[in-house]
Amino acid sequence: MPDKQLYIETFGCQMNVNDSERIVTMLADLGYAPTNDPSDAGMILLNTCSVRGGAEEKVYKRLENLRIYKRDGKSQIIGVGGCVAQQEGEALLRKFPYLDLVFGTHNLHLLPDMVRDAERGERRSETGFIDNDRRLDLFPSIKGQSRLSRFVTVMQGCDNFCSYCIVPFVRGREISRRSADILAEVRQLADEGVMEVVLLGQNVNSYGLKTASEPTFAELIRQVADVTGIERIRFTTSHPKDMSDELIACFGDVPKLCGQMHLPAQSGSDAVLKRMKRGYTRDSYLEKVRKLKAVRPGMVITGDMIVGFPGETEEDFELTLTLMAEVRYIDLFSFVYSPRPGTKAAELAEELTRGQKIERLERLQERQRGITREISRSYLGTLQKVMVEGEGKRPGQLSGKADSGRIVNFSADSGLIGSFVDVRIIQAYQNSLLGELV
Ligand code: SAH
Ligand code: SF4
Ligand code: F3S
Repeated sequence: MPDKQLYIETFGCQMNVNDSERIVTMLADLGYAPTNDPSDAGMILLNTCSVRGGAEEKVYKRLENLRIYKRDGKSQIIGVGGCVAQQEGEALLRKFPYLDLVFGTHNLHLLPDMVRDAERGERRSETGFIDNDRRLDLFPSIKGQSRLSRFVTVMQGCDNFCSYCIVPFVRGREISRRSADILAEVRQLADEGVMEVVLLGQNVNSYGLKTASEPTFAELIRQVADVTGIERIRFTTSHPKDMSDELIACFGDVPKLCGQMHLPAQSGSDAVLKRMKRGYTRDSYLEKVRKLKAVRPGMVITGDMIVGFPGETEEDFELTLTLMAEVRYIDLFSFVYSPRPGTKAAELAEELTRGQKIERLERLQERQRGITREISRSYLGTLQKVMVEGEGKRPGQLSGKADSGRIVNFSADSGLIGSFVDVRIIQAYQNSLLGELV
């Protein structure tokens, strides 16, 4: 039945990727099978991001393009979910008359009902936030995914209110999932053959801090590591201020915890960090990085950086460059500051032109490319333990991840998928490594 096909496009972060998997699962129960072709899908959904103005613009452009699929005689349903939906709500229905449904970040569980309404021609918007006690029981589960590595949500929302950030407004208050539910999900995944779990949340290292009955994030990691069948644990994303010594210690004595961490600094200047309301200093950040590298040889750090925050001087920017040189990020995601509606920073005056901000971004990215290249080359000749996840891009190649999270491609028989192998690195690229099976 071609009209019962679901085409979904996902923007933004891993939370959205994960939510899209929940949506696919829920709509499969209504008879919608996933498709990669929007032209004959009965339903088109956009799961959106509003973290920067550009991300939001992209969604509107895409929505304009989707109009062509709403032709006479076809009954496509078009819906928008995620962070732009949360931010704009019903206004989207007015702005885009061919849009059928808008669902916010707390309303995934209402989607099946909303789709039934849309099938009857009723347009609907649901963007109310749900109370914390009800929210914990409203996690639709994910089925039908057969990857070796899976996300497991440990917390949702964010209470940090960094002055530039819209996430707390569009994802709501921080809530930690019950550890019993998390562990039950991890055990279930292990039974299905999953070997790696990525614990997911906007700020996972504050997990459990507001609920006395729950373990800390470090304790949770140790409990997950006790699950038989789970061989690797990663987590994302972390806030430096909540990086405890207890968590750092896990990198030293929990072998299943991979030696890779995403620890966004956002800036290397204390003056800027203060205006960003980040709650740590350059020195305390660097101290945590030093401790991490000391407990775990080979530890790699990735991060996020914002350039051109209001009031960022050339000296502030240079402090960001020197911080990068000290940390030596293996990968760095960097962005030009973008004022977001409702945030504190949006009230601050901006002195830099767009051109000046982009010039700084380019300088930063040029530096980072050099650091990534050097780290990547340092793997040449080394032996890496690779979890083989699937076919590589080239025929005859398999692909997997090293402990550091680096993608490693090598020639071997597909029978090795789902196992760990030793691979000697023979070529280093910017985003991946090439090796040969030992
Ligand atoms: N919770 C995550 C970040 C989520 S947003 C964390 O704290 O690590 C992902 C990244 O987008 C942020 O780390 C930041 O670098 C960037 N970002 C957020 N708001 C932004 C803004 N207004 N302008 C530019 N970049 C922004
Ligand atoms: Fe945004 Fe800060 Fe929360 Fe991350 S920790 S989501 S940057 S408010
Ligand atoms: Fe974007 Fe929402 Fe994630 S704003 S970064 S999709 S939480």
